[in-house]
Amino acid sequence: MDLQGKTILTGVKPTGTLHIGNYVGAIRPAIELGHHVSQTGRHIMFVADYHAINAIKDAVLLKRLRKEIACVYLACGLDPNQSIFYMQSDVPELFEMTTILMAYTPKGFMNKAHAYKAAVDKNHIKGEPADSGINMGLYTYPVLMASDILSYDTDLVPVGKDQIQHVEIAADIAGSINALYQKEVLKIPSYFVQEASQTLPGIDGQKMSKSYNNVIPLFGTDAEIKKAVMSIKTDCQDINAPKNPEEILLYHIIRGIAPDTVVQEVKEGLEKGGMGYGTIKKMLLASILQEVSEKREKYNNYMAHFDDVQDMLNEGAKKARAIARPVLERTKDAVFAR
Ligand code: ADP
Ligand code: TRP
Repeated sequence: MDLQGKTILTGVKPTGTLHIGNYVGAIRPAIELGHHVSQTGRHIMFVADYHAINAIKDAVLLKRLRKEIACVYLACGLDPNQSIFYMQSDVPELFEMTTILMAYTPKGFMNKAHAYKAAVDKNHIKGEPADSGINMGLYTYPVLMASDILSYDTDLVPVGKDQIQHVEIAADIAGSINALYQKEVLKIPSYFVQEASQTLPGIDGQKMSKSYNNVIPLFGTDAEIKKAVMSIKTDCQDINAPKNPEEILLYHIIRGIAPDTVVQEVKEGLEKGGMGYGTIKKMLLASILQEVSEKREKYNNYMAHFDDVQDMLNEGAKKARAIARPVLERTKDAVFAR
């Protein structure tokens, strides 16, 4: 895909402490993209804290999660001089834009949005009224997300499959506003699914997810990471039996995170037989620590000096507002014929 000169935007919801699945599937690719795109275009990356309050009402917890996410991205190499990096709640233009977009969003779009439908389905299973526990923030989630996207004349939004529908809704809203006023008031965004992103299994073999309690924490202590790695589920085949690596959970995890040479060694060891699961776990642990140790040190440093991070976020918000303001004014010009 030609990313020359494009504006690419990614939002990250601070809803949980991050694990190595998030790292290989979302954080690393987003940062690499930032390095690539910022040469010719614009890379925007923000913490979607207003999206998070739909789910998290514990203010102290949310404070910690917002902080953690910002520090994780910086520690993993996001460069605030190359990428525009900010907290969503520091850009008030987004909320004016959200109010405008609301007026052009058919209610039916919201009824069909995945996050809302999933919440309704859960209520149905529990035998509760359809809208029980569902707030308007969750219901209108895609409108705020459309505002996130449309406020910067975004060309492309890299997404996981679950977010495609949201970008399509943003494109539809922009399309109907443009059609109504017969000019390009808002830029129509596209999504792209990043091919490289892979799903890392957790220590029990299901998808690694904070909801399944099966994670290897990204920036846990050595002891926490070791405990998780040593708990990876294994079978009781004879150590000397030749095995198909594809059928071995440990192999799938090591393939997601370890360098190619280690992956190859484990593959051959399993195929030939004779390489025990304990040995492979030690190799996996060493690979994870090699990948994360330096970043973890940076992370702890950022967490301990959050004032510096706050300064970076403030700078980022200023840059974001400078882009969002003219887009908002252009939109107000159109809808009020100013
Ligand atoms: P979780 O499943 O832990 O709740 P989220 O749904 O918040 O994680 O996902 C945040 C980001 O991390 C998404 O972009 C998602 O695609 C990515 N991600 C989450 N789990 C994995 C995994 N096991 N492997 C690869 N990527 C993942
Ligand atoms: N909805 C996204 C998620 O759950 C987070 C998000 C909010 C986002 N606004 C966005 C992603 C704008 C891309 C673009 O992961």
